[in-house]
Amino acid sequence: MRLPGDPTERELVERIIRVDHAGEYAAIRIYQGQLAVLRGSDKADTIRHMQQQEQVHLEAFSALITERRVRPTALLPLWHLASFALGAATAALGERAAMACTVAVEEAIDEHYSKQSAALGDDETELRDTIDRFRAEELEHRDIGLEHGAEQAPAYRLLSRIIKTGCRLAIAASERV
Ligand SMILES: [Fe+2]
Ligand SMILES: [Fe+2]
Repeated sequence: MRLPGDPTERELVERIIRVDHAGEYAAIRIYQGQLAVLRGSDKADTIRHMQQQEQVHLEAFSALITERRVRPTALLPLWHLASFALGAATAALGERAAMACTVAVEEAIDEHYSKQSAALGDDETELRDTIDRFRAEELEHRDIGLEHGAEQAPAYRLLSRIIKTGCRLAIAASERV
């Protein structure tokens, strides 16, 4: 049942497309920031592989922005800079910190995509399937991060907590603004 103040179905779908478009855009920028620092590292190909998958995710949500006439978030220029900075800063702390960043982001996105998938009804199966498919790839990215020593990063727990909190704030803002 819809409660007063809850978004309508149309608003719900618009928010989902707006925030996911922003998130996938930000994901690419994080990896670009990491690669700016780790270009010559033996992790570069792994990072590039994940970035290419984010590119496919972004293209899907860009198409939905156009098809469904959804306004992109006004915060994109901020995410452009902040996400690159996050990627570069964690990479500057080391390869493991870069991987810890990926794990934290993907854990937040897993939670976010799960909620969205559960909120969508059967009249939006196509969008729901897209989200479910991308969510599976985000979990692969999380596992790649773990395989590459994320948890051995300095101050892993603190770093992870800060990044996840940042992701949640960015999500809440990008749904609305
Ligand atoms: Fe993605
Ligand atoms: Fe991802």
